[in-house]
Amino acid sequence: MKIIAIRSSPRGKNSNTLKLLDAALDGVAAAGAEAEVIDVAKLKLKYCAACNACHKTGVCPIKDDFNGSLEKLLAADGIIWSSPNYMTNVSAQLKTLFDRSPRVTHEQLFEGKYAFSLTTAGSRDVGFVLDVMNNFMKMCGGTVIGGVGCTMAQGPLAMEAAIGKSYEMGRDLVEAIREKRSYPDQDALHHAWREGFRHVIIANKEEWPHNVDHWIAKGWL
Ligand SMILES: Cc1cc2nc3c(=O)[nH]c(=O)nc-3n(C[C@H](O)[C@H](O)[C@H](O)COP(=O)(O)O)c2cc1C
Repeated sequence: MKIIAIRSSPRGKNSNTLKLLDAALDGVAAAGAEAEVIDVAKLKLKYCAACNACHKTGVCPIKDDFNGSLEKLLAADGIIWSSPNYMTNVSAQLKTLFDRSPRVTHEQLFEGKYAFSLTTAGSRDVGFVLDVMNNFMKMCGGTVIGGVGCTMAQGPLAMEAAIGKSYEMGRDLVEAIREKRSYPDQDALHHAWREGFRHVIIANKEEWPHNVDHWIAKGWL
């Protein structure tokens, strides 16, 4: 079993969010699984050029760290997403990775993978940022087991509690993968998404041959 943990704060070892991620990784290790960390803030990632080449060929033609990172994500059984709250959203570093992933959405390449998300904020609610990460995962066909966030203004006790929850969620991620945990509401969401997107794939069948071949191979078309 392999877990990929995504960091995306530019603050390096001073990152508040990293404290949650480190606790989650302790939980993953305690449950007997291996994890690899990808620090998106240290990657060379250009913006998506909206060229549609990934839908045509299955490969992003931009020469940077994206394709190597995607390969690691696709080989993982579980993913831990983490980001600081930047303007009630994820960091630009993580958003750039999300924007580079339209094929992952079109082809539902996170199908069968489990994930959860972590965030810290200065003063605001953390729910919206967790939703951004968890919705991305679901939109790519993946299954979400939860999220942990902490608002720093709530003080050290709140952080301590969030660290404890992150540890437990790291353990739970490994359990969810082992037992192939079922979330019927998310299965229904994936089914409805595919029903809706089927028309988009059909409408673009000449332009997006890689997507079409994938849908045929999956039996969705
Ligand atoms: C560019 C930027 C934007 C931020 N936007 C928000 C925000 O909208 N709401 C909020 O509560 N905190 C905001 N913060 C504060 C960070 O979310 C908070 O300090 C967080 O714990 C930083 O996490 P990190 O140490 O992992 O980078 C912002 C910080 C920066 C640098």
